[in-house]
Amino acid sequence: MNLSEIKSLDSQYFLQVFGERMPACFVRGEGCTLYDQDGKAYTDLFAGIAVNALGYHHPVITDAILAQANAGVLHTSNIFYVEPQAELAALLCRHTFADRVFFANSGAEANEGAMKLACKYFYAQGVNRYKIVSANHSFHGRTLATVAATGHDYYQAPYRPLLPKGITQVPYNDLDALKAAIDDETAAILLEPMQGEGGVTPAKAEYLQAVRALCDETGILLILDEVQTGVCRTGSLYCHEQYGVTPDIMTSAKGLGCGFPIGAILASEKVASKIAKGDHGSTFGGNTFACAVSLAAMRYMIDHDFSAVAKEKGAYLMDAVRKIKSNHIAEVRGMGLLIGIQLTDDCLAGDVMRRMLARGFVPGTASGNVIRLAPPLIISYEEMDAFVAALAEELAE
Ligand SMILES: Cc1ncc(COP(=O)(O)O)c(C=O)c1O
Repeated sequence: MNLSEIKSLDSQYFLQVFGERMPACFVRGEGCTLYDQDGKAYTDLFAGIAVNALGYHHPVITDAILAQANAGVLHTSNIFYVEPQAELAALLCRHTFADRVFFANSGAEANEGAMKLACKYFYAQGVNRYKIVSANHSFHGRTLATVAATGHDYYQAPYRPLLPKGITQVPYNDLDALKAAIDDETAAILLEPMQGEGGVTPAKAEYLQAVRALCDETGILLILDEVQTGVCRTGSLYCHEQYGVTPDIMTSAKGLGCGFPIGAILASEKVASKIAKGDHGSTFGGNTFACAVSLAAMRYMIDHDFSAVAKEKGAYLMDAVRKIKSNHIAEVRGMGLLIGIQLTDDCLAGDVMRRMLARGFVPGTASGNVIRLAPPLIISYEEMDAFVAALAEELAE
């Protein structure tokens, strides 16, 4: 099929929640390069929204997929023991603050479970704490509870009054607002260490550290949503490590499967010890296939220190973008290989993305008129240079 045939099927049969999409359909990938049906090559700087950390057709991922497919077992259910699930849980615990892990299928599902864990932690102790405080401009997913936690009226409005009660938002990086929002029924504070969808806005170090101290004083649990910032992307395995702040519960997804859908809830023993048989579950979460692929990917990225890779390449790319002389760039911010280019109002990020696509590059956008870069961590310096030169040229036009 050519692109217009695909577009016509999509517009007739697919639920139009994505509206008119970017005009490309990728059919093949190699390294950091995507190819459309006409064979046109594109250098990818968005990795399928910060997912494909090892790019395309990476032998570690391909081999893991083929090996598990050839073993003939993709899913057996959580009624039985699942070897790669146990191994992946152990690997994550060995390399993070966590003592126990539960696997889900997506970021939203992981966040939904994390909020349940927080409430159950208090319920198990006979304490009536059920409220969750999150931040304005946050993004936590599309289920009802995660929409309630996502700090945008746009996402919430159609679903009131169905949204779970007791989930409220406060301005990000504002400790006083957070203090004013908590009470003795607050179970957890849910934050991204750096807001991704909301515009690539890092938490201030003193803010995140003070939030941790506030949680310690009040007994409230700290949940960090590392769905976008996790898995080496920001220059450490999980972003919070760079803040010297440890959560009680953390969620991970996106890069965790390098393209294969998987999410995870990671918890300290303090929290996990209050979770009992029957409190949570999933048919597909933690299935053999997803865990086998994620295990191979995570082992490889940890063994080859992709955190250091992301830190080094991220510093290079950020520096190069900052050197672009353009009146359309208001600010460049981010950590590691998650970078936001704040554009001025006269230049729309969506338009720039479209034009860069025509030039053979795939950047992304974030809300607030931001160009978002989250390339595969395997991106080369030459590919970054070529992108920066093309972006400079585009912004000059
Ligand atoms: C920080 C954050 N949390 C949660 C989600 C939702 O993840 P998913 O789309 O896998 O449900 C996203 C997705 O962009 C995200 O960036």
